[in-house]
Amino acid sequence: MRLLIRNCKLYVNDRIVENCFLLIETPLIADFGIDHGGHSSYDINLNARGRILLPGMIDAHVHLRDQLLSYKEDFKTGTASAVLGGVTSVIDMPNNDPPTNTPTNLLERMELAKSKILANVGFTCKPSVNHSINLELSKIGAIAFKVFLYEYMVDGFLDTSSLVKILSSLSKLDRVLMLHCNIKSKFSEVLKLARRRSMFKLCRIEKELAESILRIAQAYKARLHFCHVSCPKAIEAINKRKGFMEVSLEVTIHHLLLNYSTLELLGSIAHVDPPLKSKSTATSLFKLLKSGAVDIVVTDHAPHAIFEKEGDDPKPGFPNLQFMMPTLMTQVKKGRLSLNTVVEKTTIKPAEIFRIKKRGMIRKGYYADLVEVDFKRKLKVKSQILVSKGKYTPFEGAILVGIPVRTYVNGICVNDDYTIVGRGGEGKVIIPGDEPHEC
Ligand code: DOR
Ligand code: ZN
Ligand code: ZN
Repeated sequence: MRLLIRNCKLYVNDRIVENCFLLIETPLIADFGIDHGGHSSYDINLNARGRILLPGMIDAHVHLRDQLLSYKEDFKTGTASAVLGGVTSVIDMPNNDPPTNTPTNLLERMELAKSKILANVGFTCKPSVNHSINLELSKIGAIAFKVFLYEYMVDGFLDTSSLVKILSSLSKLDRVLMLHCNIKSKFSEVLKLARRRSMFKLCRIEKELAESILRIAQAYKARLHFCHVSCPKAIEAINKRKGFMEVSLEVTIHHLLLNYSTLELLGSIAHVDPPLKSKSTATSLFKLLKSGAVDIVVTDHAPHAIFEKEGDDPKPGFPNLQFMMPTLMTQVKKGRLSLNTVVEKTTIKPAEIFRIKKRGMIRKGYYADLVEVDFKRKLKVKSQILVSKGKYTPFEGAILVGIPVRTYVNGICVNDDYTIVGRGGEGKVIIPGDEPHEC
């Protein structure tokens, strides 16, 4: 199929080029450039009406659930949220039911996803129950491994021997180890800390856990990636090690843009792990992002059923994918972030860290994962517009711009006019190092 997009602005090599065309030969980008007309052979011709065409975002931290957790979210609703949010590839976390920690479970998950996904999905795995990394998992196509450090705490201390076992088996593989560096905190405790404006204890733990694992890991050739870092001191500690080992870190959109006040306003809906912090912490995180100290920005899309967000012990997390591009583009429009920073931290960098080939940039021979963005159209966030199974959001009421009015995944339009038109199956399972043929 040859699909011609005309009358667009193209984001290539860090700048916007006016009056362009882009030709897709599904699933790849066949050609693009200044539009001088004279295109003859194509099957579909689309007018972008002068809007910007950006590379689709890659969200390196999402929980798509499905299987026994499909009452919270499934592959279709999760990836539908992604493409409405300008996200064309996601990395799925392994805390599923059944957990993604054996070859059988990984294969079952991949097989089930294939016909349902509207965006590309890479699958992470947990180490097996005896703390080893099964090499078969990376052969099958695990994109990374993930460790929840609270599962490795004994009497408040890290179980070093199990972590050493994981790190030494990982050094044989070219796969990243993702780390969740926080202890689990109950909502009632979080609320108390927020009211006292004293989250410093949680920040101290985040920093100390990061430092401990960095110390243990330096003897091994493992590549580390720190998930949802929420405190500036932890970011500083991680960055100090960058010259000595391969290490990267992510910050979530909610930790950059929200704070205690959302927690006080929306209660358990805004409960997340790690918890939201103070306004000044969010401002510092924002500054660190601008200064280059943050490698990538993610959503940590983590929907739960509404009844699980209520009661004495609500679950942490909320759906966030649908607003990824608009929340960030609204910051661009306000002049608080540059378009280059947003694109770098959500496309090029995640592709680099997770070795995702031929995605994350507009280039000939790359997959046609693209988003047509409307900076004039406004979107008011309301729970009812969520296509996730979780119909609630901590961004309730926000007015956003930079709306993904069309999203292409592997050259197929899956979102047209902010409406899902894909049926599922347009996305591919991402296998690290997997490359398409050049055209
Ligand atoms: O808020 C969170 N929810 N943080 C996590 O680390 C896990 C996630 C989930 O799976 O619900
Ligand atoms: Zn986490
Ligand atoms: Zn998560």
